Amino acid sequence: MDDKRIAAEEAVKYVKNGMTVGLGSGSTVDFMLHALGKRVQEGLQIQGIPSSKKTEKLAKELGIPLVDFSVTTHIDLAIDGADEIDPSLNLIKGGGGSLVREKVVDACADELIIIADSSKVVSTLGRFPLPVEVLTFGFEVTAEYIKKLGGDPVLRRKDGEVFISDNRNYILDCSFGHIDDAARLHETLVKLVGVVDTGIFADMADKVIVANKGEIELFQK
Ligand code: A5P
Repeated sequence: MDDKRIAAEEAVKYVKNGMTVGLGSGSTVDFMLHALGKRVQEGLQIQGIPSSKKTEKLAKELGIPLVDFSVTTHIDLAIDGADEIDPSLNLIKGGGGSLVREKVVDACADELIIIADSSKVVSTLGRFPLPVEVLTFGFEVTAEYIKKLGGDPVLRRKDGEVFISDNRNYILDCSFGHIDDAARLHETLVKLVGVVDTGIFADMADKVIVANKGEIELFQK
């Protein structure tokens, strides 16, 4: 079985009756939604808050009851994927372009569980170019500032078109090389004009469930 699916199914065991569950985004989360949808069909009573339009669509198809932040701002448990995970459980996210909504959802959860296959585990963040969501207006200016900080911003494209996030913004994929201090880089970037948020999720994950050739590994704070 796919390691992403194994990690996803393990995480769903942490979902209990009555919970409000933050639903991340990405292909690993898609496996999680299928497992969660199955438990809902079997009688589990929960409500989900999706972190992307794609997740919202799939969750609806699978019969997972959804609410938004107008109903509650309290999330018991969020389950999300990641592009890179370091030994301190700092993350790079946003490979799918949903980093801003993911951060809003993940930040207000009592507990954040990250699910991944072993390819996402790194000793130092930075092999994966850091996604930075920016305003479309003057994104060239923001890109210049990022360049001055040592990044190498590339405007994300998908299927030949410039990629537009769910928030109608652009994504700059920025290679910084090895990121020694992820929290500091985030703090610096997020102050630049035009930056909405970065894909650095520092000190947010409580548990990371990694599947490695079928074996589950649990990392936690
Ligand atoms: C979506 O924007 C991302 O943050 C995903 O959580 C991340 O890219 C992991 O994606 P996969 O589960 O598809 O590898």
